[in-house]
Amino acid sequence: MTSPSNLIADDIEQYLARHANKSMLRFITCGSVDDGKSTLIGRLLYESKLVFEDQLTALEADSRKSGTQGEGLDFALLVDGLAAEREQGITIDVAYRYFSTEQRKFVVADTPGHEQYTRNMVTGASTADLAVILIDARKGVLTQTRRHSYLVSLLGIRHVVIAVNKLDLVDYSQQVFDEIVSEYTSFANEIGLANVVAIPMSAYMGDNLTDRSPNTPWYQGPTLIEHLETVEISEELAGSPFRMPVQWVNRPDLDFRGFSGQIVSGVVRPGDRVRVLPSGKESAVARIVTMDGDLDEAPAGRSVTITLTDEIDVSRGDVLAAADALPGVADQFEAHVVWMGEHEMLPERPYLCQIGTMTVQARITKPKYKVNVNTLEKTATNTLALNEIGVCNISFDRPVPFDAYRANRDTGGFILIDRLTNTTVGAGMIAHSLRRSDNIHWQAVDVNEQARQTLNGHRPQVLWFTGLSGSGKSTIANELERQLYALGCHTYLLDGDNVRHGLNRDLGFTEADRVENIRRVTEVARLMADAGLIVLASFISPFRAEREAARELVGSDQFCEVFVDTPIDVAEQRDPKGLYKKARRGELANFTGVDSPYESPEHPDLRIDTTATSPEEAGRLIIEHLRGRGVIA
Ligand code: ADX
Repeated sequence: MTSPSNLIADDIEQYLARHANKSMLRFITCGSVDDGKSTLIGRLLYESKLVFEDQLTALEADSRKSGTQGEGLDFALLVDGLAAEREQGITIDVAYRYFSTEQRKFVVADTPGHEQYTRNMVTGASTADLAVILIDARKGVLTQTRRHSYLVSLLGIRHVVIAVNKLDLVDYSQQVFDEIVSEYTSFANEIGLANVVAIPMSAYMGDNLTDRSPNTPWYQGPTLIEHLETVEISEELAGSPFRMPVQWVNRPDLDFRGFSGQIVSGVVRPGDRVRVLPSGKESAVARIVTMDGDLDEAPAGRSVTITLTDEIDVSRGDVLAAADALPGVADQFEAHVVWMGEHEMLPERPYLCQIGTMTVQARITKPKYKVNVNTLEKTATNTLALNEIGVCNISFDRPVPFDAYRANRDTGGFILIDRLTNTTVGAGMIAHSLRRSDNIHWQAVDVNEQARQTLNGHRPQVLWFTGLSGSGKSTIANELERQLYALGCHTYLLDGDNVRHGLNRDLGFTEADRVENIRRVTEVARLMADAGLIVLASFISPFRAEREAARELVGSDQFCEVFVDTPIDVAEQRDPKGLYKKARRGELANFTGVDSPYESPEHPDLRIDTTATSPEEAGRLIIEHLRGRGVIA
């Protein structure tokens, strides 16, 4: 069967054009399949005027013929279709479904409802005006209900409908409804959710969806559709200052230089003074260009190309903003973070962060606290697990334009992406920037890299040895340092066992501690390279993310990853410190290769196979490589 989600973009465009003069309400539904979400959405699509005639012709025609509008087999089929789609759709983040009534058009972000898919909800919610939170009348307010509500409040959705569903299964009991509403209301008050409307319904039976149900004579409020049609949509976005993150810059060989993107807030007109951030350069809007010609005015939501009266540098990721109401620019923030990764958040691990149209590298500190969504208690924590919500400091690798999330969801919200799996692992909402990032500056110095190089007679370098415990990293590094010394090079050997006695005495071998170990060592190696040394860093450094971050921090031309490749059985056979034996006996936890992972380098600069290469040979190979790179003569 054809389902309404099989829409192609053209259909949606046509649809939007046909109904352009109606206001549009964007909403999300929260709850699980068991709460009747499929049924509810199916019913809304089916009982509304079914705008997507094309997609639903067959269904509708059938039901017209048989006179069973909104009832019977066809409705069941539609719901089954949605449910089946959802089953397969776990990997699809969000399906947007469009429908309309005489009064209004609607976009519902239909999100797979499994407990662990908070992620989808957050994705769907980022533009929503309203949230419908489903509660199964038999089950009442659940942890999931509280989590969703807390998120809805955090995400700044201003209207909430509590759909107390499956009321037919509790004999349409007013008492059940009242109890649920009273429990929910006190929770809603605590988390600052205003504008909550509770509706008793049975999506399956169609009670109080489009028509007032005779089964709930005690209920005087609106039906769901009535409420969705009449709830006031805030004009907030248009009232707030102009912001447009630049999606792309037109090719310079075109006849004009324009900056394209979607206006996320405010209104813009030719002649308006705007500033480009983070650079801060100011100009005025010359033209607002669209496919349908130039505009005198463009509001939030519109995608446009803007040209400026001055030739100034603008790149993708920059934000064009009203010159008299600027966003901030900073690289450190306090933010709410909602964790969506299967793997726990690792403080100080570099994640990719998308904010507006910009992608930066971000590191999150240990959370200040996490929030228990049931009790709203704030508890201390070292990390955030799947679905947990915490407040953290976060730092970006460069300054970005931003607004507080409560002022602007688009310029104040960000998502975090795992660098290796490319999956979204977190969403964040900026509370405010941290002053400290404004007050620390790089000290410019006169004795620079070139001066040190002349004095030393070689260029600096970080040789990063990675491999299992017992793979031979330290042996090779030690031999190499001897050979470099003989050549008159200035070197320093940073070694895991040694650093862990001093600088990193406070760290153990959990994933989080290893991440922090490597972060600190990377900073030290960079300083030493800055001092002109050839640094030999010898650490298991089991995770690619941290090794990649080290390469980025030090700079690719000064960083050489040496993979000391020794199969685990060989390393275990050698077992120079007897640690493998201990680990196998269960006396040493989190041992690399035994019960803690090692992610082999995919593209090391050098690979040393220690089963076929002696330490002396390895040293010579590396020296050859350094000559090839022009580090030493
Ligand atoms: S890393 O994983 O954080 O890079 P690092 O190289 O500093 O580790 O330290 C590894 C050394 O610590 C090993 O060579 C070994 O001597 C010792 N060690 C003690 N416990 C462990 C463990 N659980 N896993 C790995 N190495 C350990």
